[in-house]
Amino acid sequence: MTHVSRVSQAPKRLLFGPGPTQVDPSVYEAMAQNVVGHLDPYFFEVAEDVRRRLRAVFGTRNTMTLAVSGTGSAGMETAVSNFTQPGTKFAVFCAGYFADRICEMARRHGATVVRAEKPWGETFDGDEARDFIRRERPDVVAFIHAETSTGALQEPRAICEAARETGALVIADAVTSLGAIPVDVDECGIDIAYSCTQKGLSCPPGLAPVTISPRALERLEARQTPNQAWCLDLKLLREYFDGRKYHHTASSTLYYALQQALRVIDGEGLESRWQRHREVHRYFVERMQDMGLEMHVAEGRRIPNLNTVRVPEGVNDAQVRARLLEQHGIEIAGGFGPLAGKIFRIGVMGPLATRDNVDLFTEAFSAALR
Ligand SMILES: Cc1ncc(COP(=O)(O)O)c(C=O)c1O
Repeated sequence: MTHVSRVSQAPKRLLFGPGPTQVDPSVYEAMAQNVVGHLDPYFFEVAEDVRRRLRAVFGTRNTMTLAVSGTGSAGMETAVSNFTQPGTKFAVFCAGYFADRICEMARRHGATVVRAEKPWGETFDGDEARDFIRRERPDVVAFIHAETSTGALQEPRAICEAARETGALVIADAVTSLGAIPVDVDECGIDIAYSCTQKGLSCPPGLAPVTISPRALERLEARQTPNQAWCLDLKLLREYFDGRKYHHTASSTLYYALQQALRVIDGEGLESRWQRHREVHRYFVERMQDMGLEMHVAEGRRIPNLNTVRVPEGVNDAQVRARLLEQHGIEIAGGFGPLAGKIFRIGVMGPLATRDNVDLFTEAFSAALR
């Protein structure tokens, strides 16, 4: 048998894109621990700790809070598939790519989808949100808290209030917001929120945190048809995580990673982390404006940890991104859909959200734009 004793070395990048984002070295260390079985008491000890810590970052007391195997899209499909049956009226606030994705998922699960539409980069104000929900009276309302394709942050409160008034459940996509900015699940009245691990939580991809309110759980109990997505069936997942009965082989390695990422967040303190992201975002915007660049989203509606900067006239965005990667080891992303070639998507989150890192980025970015 041939032994390959040295592991190959992935390049070291500075992940200034929308995700995956920079991982704390202690998270890599946590991942090097021994693999244990998915029914090992130690696995459940870690899983319980992760669930407790996730409640804190989501801002919820929901017992049904866990991390599903899979990326943010698995979180999205968990939210959609458990609360959608053929004929469910599913309303979506649409102003970007990920809103379109949730519409498509709901449609595939048999929902009748109704959309409130705005151009990519805008958000819905309180009156617009209330009017749409009162008019449509849907069973489920979904919105993207931080629309990563545009850089716009949707305020949840009016959506949640109107949904409560009309009896609809609210799904919030917190894929880009969780861990970097408050999601305030209980305070806002969000029923179902989902996320990923590779953005605001500064962890590698592979798990999808989800949280479900007691009101949504009642709806789930009353459901007559089985969830068509067996892997993401919350009733079965509850038997696994609470009943400790085999459902699938969850990755202990990813659970160790998430546990450590959440411990790092806890060590900093949630309020300080959110404050740091807001402050560094303001600094980032100042630096971009000093360079004569424009932000895509209006002030006050921007995602603090994911900036969208307009590509200047005559500049080829793909060339700039390639230069940044090749010459500086920096990853950023471009726009897509109607924003293809028009914006750069620049994540400043987790360990990279410091003034020094923004300075380092600005210098490289300015050279790459020349
Ligand atoms: C807002 C939003 N929702 C959902 C997803 C899907 O997540 P993933 O790519 O981890 O499956 C993303 C990914 O960027 C996202 O930004």
